Amino acid sequence: MRPLIQRLGYLVVDAIDPHAAARDTVNIVGARIVEECPDSVALSSNQRHAELIIRKGTANALVRCGLEATSAAAVEQVRANCEAAGLRILSTEPSLPGIEAAVTFATSEGHVFEVHTPMSADRPARYHGPGAHPRALDHVNFTAVDPRAWADEMQAACGLLLSERTTGYELAWLRAADGRHHTVAVVKSHSPGIHHMSWEFPSFDDFKNLADALIPDARKLTWGPGRHGAGDNLFLYFADSADFLIECVAEMEVIDDEAAPVRISAAGENLSNWRVVNQWGALPPTEWVEHHSPLAALAEDRAA
Ligand SMILES: [Fe+2]
Repeated sequence: MRPLIQRLGYLVVDAIDPHAAARDTVNIVGARIVEECPDSVALSSNQRHAELIIRKGTANALVRCGLEATSAAAVEQVRANCEAAGLRILSTEPSLPGIEAAVTFATSEGHVFEVHTPMSADRPARYHGPGAHPRALDHVNFTAVDPRAWADEMQAACGLLLSERTTGYELAWLRAADGRHHTVAVVKSHSPGIHHMSWEFPSFDDFKNLADALIPDARKLTWGPGRHGAGDNLFLYFADSADFLIECVAEMEVIDDEAAPVRISAAGENLSNWRVVNQWGALPPTEWVEHHSPLAALAEDRAA
């Protein structure tokens, strides 16, 4: 079955200081602010109306992930799939302006997804500002207590394809219709949340500017640069001021074949198999392995 999702849509997070987190996204990642008010900041790195919305909250937490549907009919199909799979449907009203049709559902662990028709692309493609200017918000890696159940639910609801998983289902990577190795991924953790969000860059050369942008504030990279085994992508990680783990990627593998068999990789105990985790050899530090940002309370999301 062709996935009902084309690619990642947008991300909404809460931050105790949304303006500080937005400044990081501008100064280090290179996206730009497209709307700002006292209680929220919207950012985009391309023509999309908004890719990352950071709201003022009582905790640094994940609110909602938007997934761009392949069509309006696909949105309706996701709604039917959620009902058939017994997943909670939270809304059928678009949450943001510029979206025509949407359905919002929650996984059994409480991750909230809005599957939506494409957001309007009404921002200029070129813009001023520091940073390397990413192409787009690329993928999100979530945490779940039961990654296998999470992956099963996302396949059942959205028709996402399982590209790869580890032998014990500690990690799983799912792709959308654009064929990129993963648009959403999941890693086993003590509670549901987000492990990292990822911005795509045109070139490895951009990573130098990214890392240099941490120097003025005496901050350091969390992990990388390196090349993951799953996805074959170049990577670099740092934590922003709200302690969200931010990945910067380039050269993500594209799997053209929708019927490609699921890869099963052995990540080793505590991600110790460097050939799967980082083909360049350096294993992730503890702060990367244990990183976790929680889910925002669902009531706060629904009031948004
Ligand atoms: Fe990633």
